[in-house]
Amino acid sequence: MPARAALVLHGPNLNLLGTREPEVYGRTTLAELDRLVREHGRRRGLRVECRQSNVEGELVTWLQAASRQGFAGVVLNPGAFTHYSLALRDVVAAIDVPVIEVHLSNIHAREEFRHHSVIAAAARGQILGFGPLSYVLALDALLALGDDRARPRANQRPRPRV
Ligand code: DQA
Repeated sequence: MPARAALVLHGPNLNLLGTREPEVYGRTTLAELDRLVREHGRRRGLRVECRQSNVEGELVTWLQAASRQGFAGVVLNPGAFTHYSLALRDVVAAIDVPVIEVHLSNIHAREEFRHHSVIAAAARGQILGFGPLSYVLALDALLALGDDRARPRANQRPRPRV
């Protein structure tokens, strides 16, 4: 990744991590998660900036600005917006920086309404179910993408239609 900077975006209610349904999301707070992710990035020579918002439009605006602000990749946990935000799906499809969708929990093992992500088809990839490790793995994926950006995608479709 040439710019060596990644943006980590957390969607709604992720500011409550630590106390929010700990049986699902664990006891790690958002501040601890951000520290873990930033430290992992630093060890790999990657500057990581973490932001959280409960507001859909703010996440859209941050994604639109990611390239202009020098971020070479985005790790996005859209929270509940995952399941219905076409605005987030559209901005992920619109921008050139790779976006990796992450989830702490395994959304496929939960309630049916969580099984579908409207964003996944527009994202570069999806990593879920590993708790805080999902974010770490996503950063490593961004770094690996940066290393072989010239290679064709495994999925050859240039833009998903879903
Ligand atoms: C989540 C899963 C979503 O279904 C939920 O609405 C969240 C968190 C996760 O990280 O597991 O807020 O994105």
